[in-house]
Amino acid sequence: MKSQDLDADLEILQILRNGAGTYVSGEQLCNQLSVSRMAIWKRINKLRSLGYEIDARTNQGYLLKKSPDLLIYPEIAPLLKTDWLGRHWQFVPKIDSTSLCLEKMVSGGAPEGVVVVADQQTAGRGRMGRTWFSPPRCNIYCSFLLRPKIDPPQVTSLPLLIGLAVTRSIRNILPDLEPKIKWPNDIQIDGRKICGILCDMQAEMDQIHHVIIGFGMNVNIEPTDLLPEIAQRATSLRIVAGKKISRVAILASILNTFEELYKKWLMQGLNPFMSEFQQHDVLRGRQVELEQFGRKVSGVGNGIGPDGALVLQMPDGSLTNVISGDVHITRMG
Ligand code: BTN
Repeated sequence: MKSQDLDADLEILQILRNGAGTYVSGEQLCNQLSVSRMAIWKRINKLRSLGYEIDARTNQGYLLKKSPDLLIYPEIAPLLKTDWLGRHWQFVPKIDSTSLCLEKMVSGGAPEGVVVVADQQTAGRGRMGRTWFSPPRCNIYCSFLLRPKIDPPQVTSLPLLIGLAVTRSIRNILPDLEPKIKWPNDIQIDGRKICGILCDMQAEMDQIHHVIIGFGMNVNIEPTDLLPEIAQRATSLRIVAGKKISRVAILASILNTFEELYKKWLMQGLNPFMSEFQQHDVLRGRQVELEQFGRKVSGVGNGIGPDGALVLQMPDGSLTNVISGDVHITRMG
């Protein structure tokens, strides 16, 4: 479905919503949208195909009975408290990758804060050239555009900031859960990955052109739908909470929280959030193995530095700051 088609369908949705539980006549819809009855009927059916329950009654018109948990702007807008993040919104039912899509939009002059969100990805990208499993209708696949006016090296701590927005949002919506940050850009619950973050930057030595933040979150995927190769390492909010969770609510919360954190981060870096990181750092005190440029190093997690580096205590007791790599816990304790 092309996004301009979707926009036209969404106009109808807004009018049905304004009806607030009453039938809206076909005539009113035709007049407000300046289209024929046939066009209205087609758009109503399009909305139904997206999962909207719309009752149609002769002489009364149309009534919106139930909305799906769909990540489209009319659903998210009532919950969005941001000034600029998500105020330009592109929903795509199916795409190769939201980050690739946004990358193409950047060359056309996309504004800062634009969000691209998909219901399904056919070539979701993960870190280190991996793929991100992105089945339809259950999870969040989201990318957004930033143009931070900071020195390029400072961007290394940005994935942690989005991680913080994700963990805060999970805790706000599901206070019984204990999401943890696994440096540099995973969120885990009960030792299993629930969210992955990917930051793509375009910069020169002294100037950032843009950063594309992409995150994928397992929200309502069922255990039986996880790929066998990730089933032991991954989980979803639904699995850990034991109930279906609103994707709209969690995404709105992440964007609201991130915008607030980002404003502080631009001025003070990670400093204001250090105690929160130490509290939710899953690697702290754990024996870990770091894989970096084909080499493996072992150490004990000793927290996260204000520059976003992982601090490792080496076997000789010295402390090393690491700014990139893949980490695995080898022993708890
Ligand atoms: C990782 O843990 O390896 C990072 C995964 C990031 C996946 C998200 S889903 C939305 C955005 N689009 C992509 O193709 N990748 C990111």
